[in-house]
Amino acid sequence: MGDHLDLLLGMVLVASPVLGISSCFSNGRMALYRFCNLTQVPQVPNTTERLLLSFNYIKTITTASFPFLEQLQLLELGTQFTPFTIDKEAFRNLPNLRILDLGHSRIDFLHPDAFQGLPHLFELRLFSCGLSDAVLKDGYFRNLESLTRLDLSINQISGLSLHPSFLELNSLKSIDFSSNKIPIVCEGELEPLRGKTLSFLSLANNNLYSRVSVDWKKCKNPFRNMVLETLDVSGNGWTANIIGNFSNAINGSQIFSLVITYHIMGSGFGFHNVKDPDWSTFSGLARSSVIHLDLSQGYIFSLNFRVFESLKELKVLNLAHNKINKIANEAFYGLDNLQLLNMSGNLLGELYDSNFDGLPKVAYIDLQKNHIGIIQDKTFRFLKKLHTLDLRDNALKRIDFIPSIPNIFLGGNKLVTLPNITLTANFIHLSENRLEDLGDLYFLLQVPQLQILILNQNRFSSCKSAHASSKNLSLEQLFLGENMLQLAWEAGVCWDIFKELFHLQVLYLNNNYLNFLPPGVFSDLTALRSLSLSFNRLMALSPGDLPANLEILYISRNQLLSPDPGLFTSLGAVDITHNKFICECELGAFISWLNQTNVTILGSQADIYCMYPNSLSGAPLYSVSVEGCDEEEILKSLQFSLFILFTVTLTLFLMAVLIVTKFRGFCFTSYMTAQRLVFKDRHTRGRESDMYKYDAYLCFSSKDFEWVQNALLKHLDAQYSNQNRFKLCFEERDFVPGENHIANIQDAVWNSRKIVCLVSRHFLRDGWCLEAFSYAQSRCLSDLNSALIVVVVGSLSQYQLMKHQSIRGFVQTQQYLKWPEDLQDVGWFLKKLSQHILKKEKRTKKDNNTPLQTLATIP
Ligand SMILES: *[C@@H]1O[C@H](CO)[C@@H](O)[C@H](O)[C@H]1NC(C)=O
Ligand SMILES: *[C@@H]1O[C@H](CO)[C@@H](O)[C@H](O)[C@H]1NC(C)=O
Ligand SMILES: *[C@@H]1O[C@H](CO)[C@@H](O)[C@H](O)[C@H]1NC(C)=O
Ligand SMILES: *[C@@H]1O[C@H](CO)[C@@H](O)[C@H](O)[C@H]1NC(C)=O
Ligand SMILES: *[C@@H]1O[C@H](CO)[C@@H](O)[C@H](O)[C@H]1NC(C)=O
Ligand SMILES: *[C@@H]1O[C@H](CO)[C@@H](O)[C@H](O)[C@H]1NC(C)=O
Ligand SMILES: *[C@@H]1O[C@H](CO)[C@@H](O)[C@H](O)[C@H]1NC(C)=O
Ligand SMILES: *[C@@H]1O[C@H](CO)[C@@H](O)[C@H](O)[C@H]1NC(C)=O
Ligand SMILES: *[C@@H]1O[C@H](CO)[C@@H](O)[C@H](O)[C@H]1NC(C)=O
Repeated sequence: MGDHLDLLLGMVLVASPVLGISSCFSNGRMALYRFCNLTQVPQVPNTTERLLLSFNYIKTITTASFPFLEQLQLLELGTQFTPFTIDKEAFRNLPNLRILDLGHSRIDFLHPDAFQGLPHLFELRLFSCGLSDAVLKDGYFRNLESLTRLDLSINQISGLSLHPSFLELNSLKSIDFSSNKIPIVCEGELEPLRGKTLSFLSLANNNLYSRVSVDWKKCKNPFRNMVLETLDVSGNGWTANIIGNFSNAINGSQIFSLVITYHIMGSGFGFHNVKDPDWSTFSGLARSSVIHLDLSQGYIFSLNFRVFESLKELKVLNLAHNKINKIANEAFYGLDNLQLLNMSGNLLGELYDSNFDGLPKVAYIDLQKNHIGIIQDKTFRFLKKLHTLDLRDNALKRIDFIPSIPNIFLGGNKLVTLPNITLTANFIHLSENRLEDLGDLYFLLQVPQLQILILNQNRFSSCKSAHASSKNLSLEQLFLGENMLQLAWEAGVCWDIFKELFHLQVLYLNNNYLNFLPPGVFSDLTALRSLSLSFNRLMALSPGDLPANLEILYISRNQLLSPDPGLFTSLGAVDITHNKFICECELGAFISWLNQTNVTILGSQADIYCMYPNSLSGAPLYSVSVEGCDEEEILKSLQFSLFILFTVTLTLFLMAVLIVTKFRGFCFTSYMTAQRLVFKDRHTRGRESDMYKYDAYLCFSSKDFEWVQNALLKHLDAQYSNQNRFKLCFEERDFVPGENHIANIQDAVWNSRKIVCLVSRHFLRDGWCLEAFSYAQSRCLSDLNSALIVVVVGSLSQYQLMKHQSIRGFVQTQQYLKWPEDLQDVGWFLKKLSQHILKKEKRTKKDNNTPLQTLATIP
């Protein structure tokens, strides 16, 4: 059997070209010539094992058509676009042929000796070839001693008078007569098959016994002395009456699996003219050893009293997709060996305690896709062997009837909350319900022996009920995708839902709107191997966020801007597609890690792309160069700016000297105006100076000091020049040496009217600066004013700023200044900054000191 599988696999592989796409070639072992406009068999090497010639125009096949191909095992000749003729011993040159496929061809002439000389033929496919009864009557299959499978479906056969040569076909196992026109089969017709065991016989879709009136006394048992492993009589329009007569007729013939799908038994919903099966319908099968009975796809409305009573050996009963609404008393009595009962896709609305009586061995009950809203408490209690109960896609609102069984499916119901019941289970499926309270999750985690818990597509978003905690929870897989955990977590509750889950190996948290992970939320998940955080809104991951032994991380479709590659190095595989990478120098380390890492990067390279800056938007990270990303680059450009600034200042000074000497009078008037303005300013300042020690606290990274001194201090601070009017505070000069740094920062923040933060690349890397920023922000909050002035220096994109939580908050809600790129604008900028510093705040004096003291106590 092994090489047949191999051949079939070959079929699947070569069947992949889409219809109409031709490929005409041979590679020695396989010759693929579909859609090649061939009118005759092409020249192929004598080593060919598979020859595929479907979809061509070959008209005749004769002995001379094929060269001697000793190796050939599979020949596919079906679906010729012209009617074709097969002559005597047409395939004689293919002595080792095992599969011959002529399906879907119009065979005008088939010589009775066409298939002679094929001693190894295993499978013959003659479906949809327009064949008549003659193909059975006239001995076409003589001498095919290896023939095992014969497919004669979709032809014009109207009677099964088999040629006596069938008697010699000792290998024959499977015959497909489906979709022919066989109205009746009686004892005698299949006589050459007596004594045989067939694994499969199909008489489906023939209107068998349903369009003629059958005199069963004369017709007798068509399957006498045959053993059928599977008999398929589906789609024949069988009523309960016909099935009853047929069952009686085949009294004693062994049929292990009887398939009667697409029957018309039963009154359906709202009709009464066709009767439901009753105890007499299947009673004739009592001695047929039926183990599997498939009655799906019909109209059964009511399961009557003891309808299956005679089927003592039945193990699998499929009643799916009928219209079952009623289960009569004792309906399942007699099914002493039944293990699987499939009643999915019916019209059940409620289940009663006695419904499943009489099923001592049932292990699996499938009740999916009904409308069940109510189930009595004891319905499943006494089914001792039950291990799987499938109640998906019903209308349940309560589940207190659930017994302790290993596998419970309750997805797609209307559960809003879970009752406090004692339950033991290995597997619980509860997706697509309406659960909201994470308290229910705590309850489920306590279920003893639970290994897999599926809770996708609920509404988990709150954390109301108190939760018990226990040690050493057994759960191994937890699916929590498509909930709203963010809502609970952002409220600061239920950060401990994954505590004690020391055995958890798989965790899905996709589609939960997460924009942060509570610190240490995964810290107990020491066994976790696979974690999905896809489809969330995470912007950054911190080193401690991921569980220690994680192997696979799915974090695609988040908003990671510039992740630290160090986070991923211990993983086996990571999916980071569709994030929002900022392709600037800071991402350099990540890009080069990506290029050379041994960690398997899942997904397509093209899906790992830059989002910003716009010039690189959509470019794959793999194609971005990190060359020229010097650490000091930004500083150099600042130095260059300073050089220009001074040149400009000098020029202006010289020009001013010139102008002053030439237009002395005019200058004087201007000076007076200016003085008046300055006086006004001084007046304002004077009034407020008793409230604040400083006009502004200048907060910047010490690495930027040189630049700040030249660009700002010299132009603003009164100690640098008499021309300047501001009393500024900055660390290098005004902080009390030896004092606690935080205390210094707090003093500066609270004793200055304004805080000016010079946010540069260095600023963002300086913890003290970020700290000062936070203090300034908290002062803004407590004073309800805008004391904080942010000046962004250098080419920092908005998205780099966004990375820092405190700055993100500010940048998203308030305006900030940008140090001008054009040096011409520096003077104007300084004036504007001065105005900002001078701007009065609506702040009453009396609440001035209170917040200062309360906040100053923060360590
Ligand atoms: C077959 O003939 C059709 C129509 O003449 C043509 O379009 C097609 O390319 C031909 N195919 C091959 C493989 O020659
Ligand atoms: C195939 O044909 C070549 C000559 O064309 C011959 O030498 C070789 O033995 C043949 N092989 C088989 C497997 O028949
Ligand atoms: C079933 O058999 C009875 C008695 O032989 C006969 O009267 C009836 O017509 C049969 N029903 C069908 C549908 O063939
Ligand atoms: C089936 O056959 C057995 C003996 O072969 C016989 O006793 C029984 O009555 C038959 N049942 C039917 C329904 O004909
Ligand atoms: C029950 O039948 C339905 C419909 O044919 C099928 O989808 C389902 O898998 C079956 N259930 C079992 C447990 O076999
Ligand atoms: C659930 O029931 C158990 C005992 O039946 C009780 O100990 C526990 O407190 C209950 N839990 C809740 C949340 O009501
Ligand atoms: C924890 O539970 C597992 C089974 O889930 C068990 O094998 C193990 O011994 C338990 N450990 C402790 C410390 O209870
Ligand atoms: C990736 O690595 C190769 C050599 O392993 C190197 O040639 C290529 O430039 C690197 N690409 C990037 C984007 O770093
Ligand atoms: C990748 O694996 C190879 C061989 O196992 C090793 O030599 C190399 O250092 C690894 N590279 C990284 C970046 O871990």
